[in-house]
Amino acid sequence: MKAVQIAEYGGPSVLQVVDVGWPSVHDGKVFVEVHAASLNPFDTMVREGHLKDAIPLQLPVTLGGDIAGVVVEVGTGVTNVSVGDKVYGQANVVAGNSGAFAEFTVTAASQVAAMPDNLDFEQAASLPLVGVSALQALTRHIDLAAGQKICINGGAGGIGAVAVQLAKHIGAYVAATATGDDIDFVKQLGADEVIDYKQQHFADILQNYDAFFDTVGGDDFGRAYSILHQDGVAVSMVAEPDEAEARQRGVVALRQSTAVTTNMLGQLAKLVEDDVVTTHVGKVFPLVQAQEAFQARESGSVSGKVVLAIKS
Ligand SMILES: NC(=O)c1ccc[n+]([C@@H]2O[C@H](COP(=O)([O-])OP(=O)(O)OC[C@H]3O[C@@H](n4cnc5c(N)ncnc54)[C@H](OP(=O)(O)O)[C@@H]3O)[C@@H](O)[C@H]2O)c1
Repeated sequence: MKAVQIAEYGGPSVLQVVDVGWPSVHDGKVFVEVHAASLNPFDTMVREGHLKDAIPLQLPVTLGGDIAGVVVEVGTGVTNVSVGDKVYGQANVVAGNSGAFAEFTVTAASQVAAMPDNLDFEQAASLPLVGVSALQALTRHIDLAAGQKICINGGAGGIGAVAVQLAKHIGAYVAATATGDDIDFVKQLGADEVIDYKQQHFADILQNYDAFFDTVGGDDFGRAYSILHQDGVAVSMVAEPDEAEARQRGVVALRQSTAVTTNMLGQLAKLVEDDVVTTHVGKVFPLVQAQEAFQARESGSVSGKVVLAIKS
């Protein structure tokens, strides 16, 4: 079968489409025919070797996390999905799976669920990591409630776009950051107020907010504490909190580590089926053009998720 692998760390040119052996199914795992997979910033970090000390990998490995496809075989003890089910979820090698960017993958049953029945495979593959990240932040860490005010930094990104829709569904007042054509896109998603981050800094404008959700990192996360009231919550997907500063200001600050689980994927699927969350696929490439797909994502030229179509 064909897979997109790296045998060394580096830029998009290290991505090779190669023929590899079939992965084998073990207890608690599912064998999935991958119809589509999507790219995330994490895949670039793995490819570039940023995680090689924290998570040593035996190269070559198949890249990729997000998948949508059809279950072909289930290992012993698997009860949440069956052969023939259309599923979506994660199949990352860093979590001990066989990798997403391949014609077939073996992944933990606990990292897949039935995909939303109103999406095609390409749309479903665009959602697992970004959708669960937004859902986990807003419902588990921030516990956002109707009438509260939240600022979402990076409202047009994969995670930010889902977070804006979820926050509006919960009934919050939503300010978000974006620039250029993305400003209208984020307004269409439901944001009450969009701040052009190239013109103004949110910390100079917003006050007395209940929550801040950061998908950008850098200095923005530290500056966010100043827009929160006492006991406000700041969650970043990227930056570590400044504990001392947070304590001094009386706010809660944390960096989230997303856990893509059957339970969270199931909640996300329901939100998609209820038309609360839509996904925005920006560009689709065939598997053999994985290098071009990564270049497109990393150049910032594509608005929306970049997807690999694997089975036509
Ligand atoms: N901790 C975890 O478990 C975890 C899980 C998933 C993702 N992440 C991380 O979360 C981050 C976001 O992921 P993603 O998939 O949403 O990425 P993404 O789709 O690339 O979105 C990032 C967004 O940030 C915007 N942006 C860049 N600089 C900005 C600024 N100064 N102010 C406001 N917005 C700005 C970008 O807009 P432009 O197009 O204008 O640049 C883009 O829309 C990544 O760093 C990823 O690695 C962490």
